[in-house]
Parts: sequence; C-alpha cells; structure tokens
Amino acid sequence: MKMRLGFSPCVLRSILLVTAAVFTSVSFCTFSSAQTRTIVPQPAHKPTFYRDVLPILQDHCQSCHRPGAIAPMPFVTYQQTKPWAAAIKLAVTSKDMPPWFADPRFGKFSNDPSLTPEQIKTISDWVSAGALAGLAKEALPPKQWTTGWNIPQPDKIVQMPVPVPIPAHGDIEYTYEIVPTGFTEDQWVQFSEIRPSSPQYVHHAVVYVRPPNSTWLRPAQLSTPFTASSFSDPKLRAEAHETTTDMLLVYAPGSEPDRWPDGVAKFIPAGSDLVFQMHYTANGTAGTDQTGVGMVFAKQSPKQRVLTLQLTNHTFIIPPRTKDYRVEVWGTLPNDCTLLSFFPHMHLRGQAFEYNILHSDGTMETLLRLNHYHFHWQLSYRLAEPRFLKAGTKLQAVAWFDNTEDNPHNPNPNVEVRWGGQTYEEMMVGFFDVAVPANMDKEQFFVRH
Ligand code: HEC
Repeated sequence: MKMRLGFSPCVLRSILLVTAAVFTSVSFCTFSSAQTRTIVPQPAHKPTFYRDVLPILQDHCQSCHRPGAIAPMPFVTYQQTKPWAAAIKLAVTSKDMPPWFADPRFGKFSNDPSLTPEQIKTISDWVSAGALAGLAKEALPPKQWTTGWNIPQPDKIVQMPVPVPIPAHGDIEYTYEIVPTGFTEDQWVQFSEIRPSSPQYVHHAVVYVRPPNSTWLRPAQLSTPFTASSFSDPKLRAEAHETTTDMLLVYAPGSEPDRWPDGVAKFIPAGSDLVFQMHYTANGTAGTDQTGVGMVFAKQSPKQRVLTLQLTNHTFIIPPRTKDYRVEVWGTLPNDCTLLSFFPHMHLRGQAFEYNILHSDGTMETLLRLNHYHFHWQLSYRLAEPRFLKAGTKLQAVAWFDNTEDNPHNPNPNVEVRWGGQTYEEMMVGFFDVAVPANMDKEQFFVRH
C-alpha cells in the first residue's frame, strides 16, 4: 500500500470554543406547610415546549431549522415543531440530529453540537407526555440570528460576482467561481467567515487560495460559475476535484467562522485568486446564490501560520459488493507542529474514518473516529485542546468503504471503485490543520532537519 504524507490545502479551523449551552430543566417539588410536615407526592414533571424544549432547539437545532436555513422544516414556533414531535424524538434518541459523527470515546471537540443525555431525555419525555405547549411567557426571547457578520467587520469581502442559478430539482454538480482578491500585498487573515446569500441551498462551500504562480484551473474563465463537466478536457475535469491548492476555510450549515487567537493567522499571497467550490442541493424551489467570504486581517504579523496537511491514499481498489473495505495510510511529521483540527473526506461509499497516532512502543492512540461517515455532511472536527506533536510523530488515517447495496448512497454496488474526482469514484483524504512558525510554508515544513 502506497503511503504518503502529502501536503495541501489549508483548512483554517477555529480553535475557539463553541460553548454548548447546557439547559437544566427545573423540577418542581411541592411540600405542604411546614407545620404538618406531611409530604405531598411530587407532581410528575412534564416538560413543556416553551420552558424546556425551546431552549434546546434554539441552541442546537435552529442554526439549520429556521426559515431560510438548510433544513426543510423550521423549529422556531410551537406550531412548526409540534407536528414533528415524534420524528424529533427519534432523531435525537438515535443521535441522527444534530449531525455529528465523532465517536464520543475519542477526543474532545470544541464544535461538538451534540445534546447531553439530560437534553435528550427532556425532549423524549416531552414527546412521550404529549408534546405540551406550556406557557408562552416562560419562553426565552426568540434567538436573534445575525444578518451581518459573526466576525468583526471585515477588512475585505470577496463575493462571487455572478449569482449561481439553482434548479428546483435534481442533483447539482459542484459549482466553481474564481474571483481575484485584488491584493497588492501579502495578507495575514486572522478571522474569516463564509456567508451564502441563500444558505438554504448550501450543503458545503470551500474557499481555496490560488496564488499567482499556481496553474490550477488556469484555463477557466474568471468571475463566472462553472462545473467540472463544462470542460471538454478530461485533465481539467479531474483537476476541478483534485487539488493541492491551499484552502482558506470550509463552510457547512451551522459551522463557525474561523477565529484565530492573536499571533495565529492564515496567509494569502499578493495577487491570489479565491476559488469558491460550492455544493448546492435542490429543495423544490428554484433560486440563486451568491456566496461571499469576509476577512479580517491580523493587526500584527503573526508568530504562527496554519497549514492544512493531508494523509492520502490514491491506490486502493474497492471490490464490488464489499463492505468494511479498509484503506490506510501513515506518515511521519518532519517537524514539530500543533495539531488543531481534522477534516475527513470520502465520497458516497465512505463508511467510517479514523485518525491515529502510532506510538513508538507499538501502541495506537485514536484521535478521532467517525463510525458513520456521511458524504452529505462535510464536517470539520476542531480539537478542544490543540495538541503539540513532536517531529517524528507517526500519524495514521484509516478509511472504511461500503460498496454494497446496504449503503443507501451507493450508486452502483456491482463495480470496482478507484480514486477519482466524481462522487461515483472515491477519495481517501484525511485533512488536518497544524500551526507552525509563521515563516514556514508547506514545502519548508517537509524539509527534514
Ligand atoms: C447542521 C444543520 C442541522 C442541525 C444543527 C440540525 N438539523 Fe435536523 N435536519 C437538517 C437537515 C438538512 C435535515 C433534512 C434531512 C437531511 O438532509 O438530512 C434535517 C432533518 C431533521 C429531521 C427529519 C428527519 C426525518 O425523519 O426525516 C428531524 C426530526 C430533525 N432534523 C431534528 C433536528 C433536531 C431536533 C435538531 C437539534 C437537536 C436538529 N435537527 C439539528 C439539518 C440540521
């Protein structure tokens, strides 16, 4: 098996903590008057929508389940939520919602949106007791969703100049738009945020940084939407999906912007273009989208730069009608670095994924494990505590593929599947972000000292 510690796109992930608000339900305990000291039985606590359930929905669901966001049904009012009560109970007890795939036994992640067991019980008890409304006056004020930026006012906003038309129905190929930054000087970006104009269609977006010396997608016209299949040249088609170009950041519904602490930033060379890669999904109503990215520049020149590296295996052949097909790759870090986050990537036959440290004593330490990979949800996993890794550390990525008809996303279980850019082909990429000294670029990182 070919092994390679490749280096490529920098996915900047925020290492700031997303504080998951923990909602504690209040239980009532009624005692009779102190004189008699008789204890009246405690009335069963029946959770209500306004008092108990709405705060959970606000913090864990409405980022996607509100009008204009990615989920098809809003859970903002009682009237909107009640008809979904049974499905909600099922979705939270099965942990299908909110979408999050990390096995809780390994690693702690700052962007983990999961519900606590108490929250799951509150929702489940609420549904079992008849999904009562309760008293509207007990509700928290409606959550305000900013229509502006969640980062400080950007120094520079780059928006796709031409709106992308989105059909009402059908699969939509990844859509690209290449936009010049106009930067006449090198820039260090400390905060960045992707904002779709129509988030209801955007399943994920990646913004790549194409420096002036890069040949990636050069023949493509600037500032106009295109897809891989709009090229007749097969080399260009493949290039659209397969690049070692740096990433600025990744967006998925509900994801946080990138906010780096002082002294840490992402580098964009003068004269770079930004390449928007958009994954849209149709939702029954046609529309358009014009996504933009806002950037706040570092006030001082940073001490550390974030690089995205990747563990990639190109050489697998997944046999037909096979599940649990295991593909692995490992590499040795040539320099010290601080590990920040993970971004696993496979296609429709992706089943599970794992990142491990292979210690010199022969033991293995799992850093992240996804038991159920889901192509629809391109999530990044940001370490709650960045991890310092010494030069010489062996990192391993392992992917499992399900090429059987049991996999509901499998377009054809009867073919052999190899590496390729189309979703009916496969990929095996374990992206991970590291912080390194600011004067080090990716190529220098791989120079061994
Ligand atoms: C990151 C976005 C996101 C978050 C957060 C999220 N959902 Fe969803 N949810 C979706 C999308 C999108 C769908 C539509 C189906 C799909 O694409 O998977 C969905 C579907 C559902 C469904 C329908 C499942 C079915 O039976 O068809 C339920 C119920 C649901 N979500 C409940 C919740 C609850 C409860 C929460 C919070 C605890 C939540 N979701 C958080 C995006 C989200």
